[in-house]
Amino acid sequence: MCASRYIELKKMDHHMTINDILKKKSEKKKITALTAYDCPFARILDEAGVDIIMVGDSLGNAVLGYDTTLPVTMEEMLHHTKAVRRGVKNALLVGDMPFGSYQASLAECVGNAVRFIKEGGAAAVKLEGGRRVKEKIAALVEMGIPVMGHVGLTPQSYHQFGGYRIQGRDKKAALEVMKDAEAIQEAGAFSVVLEGIPAKLGKQITEKLAMPTIGIGAGPHCDGQVLVLHDILGLSGDFKPKFARRYADVEDITLKAVKEFTRDVQEGKFPSIDESFE
Ligand code: KIV
Repeated sequence: MCASRYIELKKMDHHMTINDILKKKSEKKKITALTAYDCPFARILDEAGVDIIMVGDSLGNAVLGYDTTLPVTMEEMLHHTKAVRRGVKNALLVGDMPFGSYQASLAECVGNAVRFIKEGGAAAVKLEGGRRVKEKIAALVEMGIPVMGHVGLTPQSYHQFGGYRIQGRDKKAALEVMKDAEAIQEAGAFSVVLEGIPAKLGKQITEKLAMPTIGIGAGPHCDGQVLVLHDILGLSGDFKPKFARRYADVEDITLKAVKEFTRDVQEGKFPSIDESFE
């Protein structure tokens, strides 16, 4: 296919690209991002106009019932990324590399990132860490895979942090987070998630970096915000983190619907004749 044909095809089918995300920062427009783990929610998020749909490894806590993100496997991530892909038309789809899929060697990191693009249909991958993953990010970018970094409270470092702890609180720790974010930019990432850091540090990093910052528990000054879908929908049970806002109580709506169905069946009210075949 000749290049001009590609250009014509792209005009017909515009969807979010990393260039659109970068442009938002230069135009001072906020970037919106949410996680999704299945096709129906991906379709709804896409229709609502969310810029970035992320298949986060929060899949582990939000959907699979694990206590942390650590047990999540590549196979689980790919299974859900494929489902999300089928529901997304416009948003930029980012696949989150799970713990153990990129740490051991560059070859494993590259191989697994390629799987997200080839099998999962993601347009970019995200991985946690700053300076220690700099070379890996550079290698992925070099081979044409856009990368989103992730610094601050990186949940895959749960054991090393001794739990989920806000990072960068004192001057020295803040400098470490800043250095990590800068390293990611130098490696060629197109954006970075800032998680669990003071709002003041979120502001400083956002002002210092040319690439967009996407905050989660990093204050209002970031270039964009990301939340776990289940937290905004009230599908996380009693887990109500300070940094998330509940926009609906889907757990309550679901409970009511299921109770009504159960009662209707028990009382012989479902199905009706209209809901049956001749
Ligand atoms: O796993 C995840 O969902 C994430 C985002 C919330 C940033 O890492």
